[in-house]
Amino acid sequence: MATAELTGKHLVLGMSGGIACYKIAELTRLLTKADATVQVVMTEAATQFITPVTMQALSGRPVYTSQWDARVPNNMAHIDLSREADAIVIAPASTDFLAKLAHGMADDLLATLCVARDCPLLVVPAMNRQMWQNPATQRNVAQLRADGIEVLGPDSGPQACGEVGDGRMLEAAATYEAIASFFQPKILAGRRVLLTAGPTFEPLDPVRGITNRSSGKMGFALARAAQQAGADVHLIAGPVALETPWGVIREDVQTAQQMHDAVMRAVPDYDVFIGVAAVADWRVDHISDHKIKKTAERAIPAFNFVENPDILAAVAKLPHPPYCVGFAAESGDLDVHGEEKRVRKNVPLLIGNLGPLTFGLDDNEVVLFEASGATKLPRADKRTLAGALIAEIAKRLPDTSLIR
Ligand code: CTP
Repeated sequence: MATAELTGKHLVLGMSGGIACYKIAELTRLLTKADATVQVVMTEAATQFITPVTMQALSGRPVYTSQWDARVPNNMAHIDLSREADAIVIAPASTDFLAKLAHGMADDLLATLCVARDCPLLVVPAMNRQMWQNPATQRNVAQLRADGIEVLGPDSGPQACGEVGDGRMLEAAATYEAIASFFQPKILAGRRVLLTAGPTFEPLDPVRGITNRSSGKMGFALARAAQQAGADVHLIAGPVALETPWGVIREDVQTAQQMHDAVMRAVPDYDVFIGVAAVADWRVDHISDHKIKKTAERAIPAFNFVENPDILAAVAKLPHPPYCVGFAAESGDLDVHGEEKRVRKNVPLLIGNLGPLTFGLDDNEVVLFEASGATKLPRADKRTLAGALIAEIAKRLPDTSLIR
């Protein structure tokens, strides 16, 4: 998470009372690591769950808990603390605090700050499932949404009280992702983006197979960047060990044929297709239904290969194709192969990796091939590069893609 996507952002992190306060220690660490400044404000109840000393040490700033705090020179903590803020984030947002916000109450420092703010307000609810389902809470949440307040979560699952259901606070990492997403320009608002990522796995027998060294990092980073840019994102992934990006719908597949079928099923609903997967070009014509054993004669097994479908080319060939973007990992002569591959696959944009193959690495340098010529983007980590590529793709989308 070493990108600078929150650099210079100033957040007031308001904590109300709840056991989920422990998650805010980690959230603060993630936010400060991403170069945001974090001003923690706690309600009296929050200080029962975690100490202001812990939050001060993690945020590197004094923590405020009372509107009567004499440290603010003009005694206007309820105004001053939010004036330089880019957003106020209430995490955890308790049942009681949501009720206060919905009714515009201002009976402590944090509630007063929210009423007196001139910046966006995000709330991250955390409560028992009955409290969340209570009609009064649901009414309050609907009111907050109607007032333009962002409600992040809640999650579903086991709760501190031992019950299971809706109401858990999002994990710290998911809360971080949702906050980072909130701040990105929505250059893909209203667009629907379908991507493939990772390798495919072509079985030889029940225990063996052929795959490649794609980690899926670039495809997952692009899915994340597209979601942050406001698109509805569907990611079809081969076998990878990566977390699904926040807000992205993920479908897992193993083989090239399965990936092809999943893409062809989904693609009519999408405006943009980005083929990032390193799809295996061949599979064996017959998969053994038992583990292939060494024979007494030690004969080395031979396999017949057949070609897998070319997913990108198949999508580009549809009568009304989405805007198609391909990727090319070459081990040499990218200038020649990149443009040749773009033309062969009949796609408007092909992104070529420059230099040595970058499978599994965090950094990448790419060239954009299109009919008008080639453009190099500066070397960057895959997350930063993904943001830049999504911006490049957004610039090129035809207006008509929504009315295919
Ligand atoms: N691709 C695909 N289906 C395949 C092979 C490739 O959709 N069966 C897509 C990849 O996702 C990528 C682009 O095509 O966007 C280029 O992939 P690459 O493996 O470089 O192309 P190939 O056609 O396999 O060419 P090469 O002969 O270089 O392997």
